[in-house]
Amino acid sequence: MPRFTKEHLFHIRPIASLVEETHETGHELKRAVSSWQLTAMGVGAIIGTGIFVVIGEGAAIAGPAVILSFALAALACVFSALSYAELASSIPVSGSAYTYTYATLGEIVAWIIGWDLILEYGVSVAAVAVGWGGNFNEFLENAFGVALPAAISAPPSEGGIFNLPAVIIVFLITWLLVIGVRESAQANFVMVIIKLAVLVFFIIAAATSINTDHFTPFAPAGFDGVVTAAAIIFFAYIGFDAVSTGSEEAKNPSKDLPLAIIGSLVIATIFYILASLGAVGLLPADQLGASDAPLAEALDAGAGLNWAAAVLAAGAVVAITSVMLVILYGQTRIFFAMCRDGLLPERLAGIHPRYGTPAKLTIGLGVLIAILAAVVPLTEIVKLVNIGTLFAFVLVNVGVIVLRYTRPEMHRPFKVPLSPVLPILGIAFAIFLMADLPLSTWVRFAIWLAVGVVIYLVYGYSHSRLRHHYPDAPDLPDIEPEAGAPETPTTEAR
Ligand code: ALA
Repeated sequence: MPRFTKEHLFHIRPIASLVEETHETGHELKRAVSSWQLTAMGVGAIIGTGIFVVIGEGAAIAGPAVILSFALAALACVFSALSYAELASSIPVSGSAYTYTYATLGEIVAWIIGWDLILEYGVSVAAVAVGWGGNFNEFLENAFGVALPAAISAPPSEGGIFNLPAVIIVFLITWLLVIGVRESAQANFVMVIIKLAVLVFFIIAAATSINTDHFTPFAPAGFDGVVTAAAIIFFAYIGFDAVSTGSEEAKNPSKDLPLAIIGSLVIATIFYILASLGAVGLLPADQLGASDAPLAEALDAGAGLNWAAAVLAAGAVVAITSVMLVILYGQTRIFFAMCRDGLLPERLAGIHPRYGTPAKLTIGLGVLIAILAAVVPLTEIVKLVNIGTLFAFVLVNVGVIVLRYTRPEMHRPFKVPLSPVLPILGIAFAIFLMADLPLSTWVRFAIWLAVGVVIYLVYGYSHSRLRHHYPDAPDLPDIEPEAGAPETPTTEAR
């Protein structure tokens, strides 16, 4: 058993060493993703189950004021998005919040956030795969009048044996991610165009048949209802941070990452507000709440466009596929960073010689997620994913504030305006939404984190690369990272 010391538990990773290690042979990812593709990755990760499925749950709680819940959840995200943008541009290394925390708050906090991000990424891919299966079945039913039997399309808790479509889609996406990040980004780009087109179609169709009576009473559950729904609707915005997991594969990270993070959030917000306005205008909120496919139901029952239900279901299938693709991608890159740092077995982080991707890791994660997707139901997991993500947001905002004090001179291609006011607002909004999640979610979250701490103490602490390779790291003067031009490394860990 190692001797645990505060210095090692809170060891801070010098940013120079982070950047330097990205150039080590065997651990170097390909810089293949352009700014358009990055923004599309953000939109790809964001728009999916939230607007096509979870909107119904929000409408059941807040009534027509679910539109305000979408606006409130967006507001809660925007401050954190700015903080992600600052850190992504200044520390252009894979791993997102995990890496930023390592460089600001120390190893054990980084591990906790890395472990926490499994909830946001790994678990949510499984949950979203289940939603994918549901929509796929709905599409089959609407378009061809056939549906898969429950035995092979539902988890045990919902009367099935296992969820075959969810498993198949996880494997397909894993394969795409193994063969290349460029291929994945291109496939995502096409899917994003399709899903935005389907939403534009929905918004235009809704605009022609809006019934203003549906907007009164506007907020039957008052402000509390709006907030509670926002804590759930928040799920719809998860994903803009996934862009930052791929910093090492961006062609020009310092400029393109902030643009993609903030741009994708703005695009999603505009679509969500218009689509939720349209949905409420077409169908009373309680009917939206009662449907498994609220947007399709709104066109069908609200506008009498029965055929449109099939178009919407197909759109949802494509939309959710791209969410899974980008979020699974994010999960692999976070794990990759954790393996490279020795907090997880380092040999898993090997890069495939031909594809230039962390193939072993991707396949391993794909298999685990497929097993989870085969047997979990969607419902409760959304809240668990939300609390995990909001917790990461808190730490990313804290990271910005800490780094401004500890490393004021560091080169920051993008800076959050009015810091620390906006990061503090980001923290406040995240805690505000977390506080609205039920106690059962908090308990599950606490158990999850406790398991993570035990794993760290048993494995990560003694295998940490930082501890072995940079034993004096806390005292090292850090070197300004050459953000945006990492292909000409000027950094050297001393
Ligand atoms: N924001 C993603 C979705 O709504 C997770 O599916």
